[in-house]
Amino acid sequence: MANKKQTLGEFIIENQAAFKYSSGELSSLINSIRLAAKVVNHEVNKAGLVDIIGAAGDVNIQGEDQQKLDVYANEKFIQTLTNRNIVCGIASEEEDDFISINSQDENHQNKYVVLIDPLDGSSNIDVNVSVGTIFSIYRRVTPIGTPVTIEDFLQRGNQQVAAGYVVYGTSTMLVYTTGHGVNGFTLNPAIGTFYLSHPNMQFPENGHIYSVNEGNYIHFPQGIKNYIKYCQKEEGDRPYTSRYIGSLVSDFHRNMIKGGVYLYPKSSLNSNGKLRLLYECNPMAFLAEQANGKASDGFTRILDIQPTELHERVPFVCGSKNMVEKVEEFMRDAQ
Ligand code: AHG
Ligand code: MN
Ligand code: MN
Repeated sequence: MANKKQTLGEFIIENQAAFKYSSGELSSLINSIRLAAKVVNHEVNKAGLVDIIGAAGDVNIQGEDQQKLDVYANEKFIQTLTNRNIVCGIASEEEDDFISINSQDENHQNKYVVLIDPLDGSSNIDVNVSVGTIFSIYRRVTPIGTPVTIEDFLQRGNQQVAAGYVVYGTSTMLVYTTGHGVNGFTLNPAIGTFYLSHPNMQFPENGHIYSVNEGNYIHFPQGIKNYIKYCQKEEGDRPYTSRYIGSLVSDFHRNMIKGGVYLYPKSSLNSNGKLRLLYECNPMAFLAEQANGKASDGFTRILDIQPTELHERVPFVCGSKNMVEKVEEFMRDAQ
């Protein structure tokens, strides 16, 4: 029960000693994300009170209207990571290109790059439904002391050093992994401290929830259509329950706790689905595997895919191991 009272700050310090990241750089980086998360959380919670909702007028590289909170969250995460001189590069869903950070005093000595989806599920903001932030951390592959290049960002997901998300829900949680399991921390808003509330999170091997935008059914590949029919069939422990929030972070979070599978397949409209490999699918896939779950594009392990572009999209199936494997079986059979 001692764990229950452990703060995220204490947890980071304790685990820094246990792992090889003894320079403390990764710990400081997670600390900076913790800080930015609190700032964004404060703003998200005010969304209904102040005039912050609605499109900011810009269109991001994906061709979508940016909501004001997307812009705000993007700025806060970039500002925090830049000001604290903690990373050498940042890529964000909201930025066309990656950002190279020139640390004047330390001459580019930082070794980590961060990729973020600053506000995930942004269409939910003005209807008071949970949104999130997703982050993914890599060690740079180009030499320390030089400006970062695209190569530092286009790494396979299996090279991630850490990944996590913040869910701004009924309570705000920060959930992350450094490759040694997944731990979840809940924010006590009264004092602004995250506490370890969900140690060693695990996907149940089987689940009863499937999460997919069924409105797109007609456009899905046959394997996915067949899987959806399988979920709905009355047989054994089926039919399953359908739950879809439309915010990957929240759908993933629920499925990890209760057991379920999230699907964003390709369709006849989007040949690679919608979700972005680098700052949505890879971090969630890393978390899933660290929590005894699985993530696939329907055929291949997400973490093994070699990225070719910063904003590329990929079909995504993620969640309880046996459910993801069942989807893969349906995909194979429909080939
Ligand atoms: P974002 O708000 O960062 O653009 O991400 C939204 C993503 C994901 O979070 C969600 O699961 C999915 O888009 C919902 O898409 P549909 O509305 O097409 O179902
Ligand atoms: Mn997103
Ligand atoms: Mn987003």
